[in-house]
Amino acid sequence: MIIAVDGPAASGKGTLARRLAAHYGLHFLDTGLLYRAVAWQLLEDGRGADDEAAAVEIAARLDLESISETELRTTGIGDAASIVAANPNVRTAILDFQRRFANRNPGAVLDGRDIGTIVCPDADCKLFVTASPEVRARRRGRELRAAGNDISDDNVLADLLRRDARDQSRAVAPLRPAEDAHLLDTTNLDIEAAFRAAVAIVDGS
Ligand code: CDP
Repeated sequence: MIIAVDGPAASGKGTLARRLAAHYGLHFLDTGLLYRAVAWQLLEDGRGADDEAAAVEIAARLDLESISETELRTTGIGDAASIVAANPNVRTAILDFQRRFANRNPGAVLDGRDIGTIVCPDADCKLFVTASPEVRARRRGRELRAAGNDISDDNVLADLLRRDARDQSRAVAPLRPAEDAHLLDTTNLDIEAAFRAAVAIVDGS
């Protein structure tokens, strides 16, 4: 079984996807981390996020194991990741890895922006998770401050909106729901309620 979970920044799709994977006994892949890792390595190498040739080279030999996840979760890396992610050659370089991961037994939950549209168009169930920008900023702000980042919800909101606009307007694999995706608005749902709603959708599809 393959479950695709897509949605805008900080919509809660990561937490939801991880819980769905545990619930159904499936593998889990946060595909955003792949783009974040390419961006992190670029900056580490002293390159700009818009250095396309270097980004493709890094993407082709990506090794997630050697990078600390905490360093990948900052807003700076998120912003750089969305610049990197607009590069079609970077996307192609990591497409096979994602598809092979999705097809491992007994199945997988992948979360990202283009799982239902490009990576796994034949997924058994597709969710598109949203929440209002203000709620997303509040949730992500809390997360970032708990991880030691000194950042206000207003700055987080500006970052999310900039990133969403970039992700929605790029020519390749833009952020959008697949035609057969189930929309799940978590604005007024806590994690538990969102999880129950997602399980009801998966079980019913
Ligand atoms: O956790 P959050 O929603 O803030 O972001 P993320 O899922 O870690 O993704 C970081 C960036 O990677 C996004 O803003 C996208 O530009 C890009 N991305 C993508 O293009 N395609 C994916 N499947 C996953 C992430």
